[in-house]
Amino acid sequence: MSIQSINPQNDGLNIVWNDRSSSCFPWLWIRDHSETEQDLHPDSLQRQIDVFSETPDNAINKAIIDQNKKNVIVKWADSSESCVSFELLESLASPSSPSAKALANDSCWNSSHEIKEFPEMSYDEFMDDGGLNKWLKHIQRNGFVLVSGALAVADATQELMERMAYVRSSIFGSFSVWDNHLDNPDDTAFTSLAIEPHTDGTYVHDAPGLQTLHCLQKDSVGGESQLVDGLAIAEKMRVEYPDYFKILSSINIPGRYIKDGIYLEAKRPLIRVNEKNEVVQISFNNHDRAPFRLDNDLMSQFYEAYKVFHNLANDKSRQFQFMLEPGTVLTFDNWRALHARSALTGYRQLCGGYHNREDFESKLRLI
Ligand SMILES: [Fe+2]
Repeated sequence: MSIQSINPQNDGLNIVWNDRSSSCFPWLWIRDHSETEQDLHPDSLQRQIDVFSETPDNAINKAIIDQNKKNVIVKWADSSESCVSFELLESLASPSSPSAKALANDSCWNSSHEIKEFPEMSYDEFMDDGGLNKWLKHIQRNGFVLVSGALAVADATQELMERMAYVRSSIFGSFSVWDNHLDNPDDTAFTSLAIEPHTDGTYVHDAPGLQTLHCLQKDSVGGESQLVDGLAIAEKMRVEYPDYFKILSSINIPGRYIKDGIYLEAKRPLIRVNEKNEVVQISFNNHDRAPFRLDNDLMSQFYEAYKVFHNLANDKSRQFQFMLEPGTVLTFDNWRALHARSALTGYRQLCGGYHNREDFESKLRLI
């Protein structure tokens, strides 16, 4: 869309777009969103204009269109000037409440057979130009990606992770190497026990966005990994169990992590939705669920709803099962995919870590 004309009105600047639709931007909004060097720092792009300390006089002298630089310039009666780009005006032509980014629900999978383009790539492909973008797209589309042909050493895995962004620090450290023979494990993940489908970090306010796992050494039997599309379960429940969807998207469930000197707790709905009722995040960890009690009727409805989600997550036909092998690096969207592991016997050494959600979204935004 380009701008056909502008018409100053009492309440703001009315812009008529070339498709004949129009948007009226309030005068105070134009002052607040001005992109002149004085108003918006040219390097940091941080707002310098302050429209709050003193109430600006929004009487105008004139408003003009600079077709060469694609800007709208407003000359105010107090001799100051604001400038807003066509790009910004067009991007906000329709007002809407800012809402959290929804997961891509056009690519849900109810079994691994439903995955259209299997998210697997070679290490060389990942390291090539455009490889990182392809890797990100796989995760966005399917909730996970496998990179094969990597060196089965910790340094190479860390390097792979850092190609996306720095590795996040957590209660478990930053990038880590661990095995299943720890004397005093901090988490079931560091044992040989089976682990039900879950997401990590239900006990932190900002759960890890992505998780990477790489098996470095293996002399074991069992220990298959499973991934389940939590978003697909949520979307199925939205249609088939709307009352349960409502319960799981509105009741805050506490998660906790308690160890010597540490007591972490956070609460959020299993299915977090934005203002448009789109699914933003799945948080499900029955192992880490903290005690809580609702009114008896609501508690019993909650148990019914949680049971449906739990049983769908544990339905083998929904799970993609595979063995983590040295040389294949798994990364999954911890806000969407549930991960699980069968019990194992023998020895296994793994490495990996987390990425923050905003760093994942940042890279996607820049593709
Ligand atoms: Fe986990």
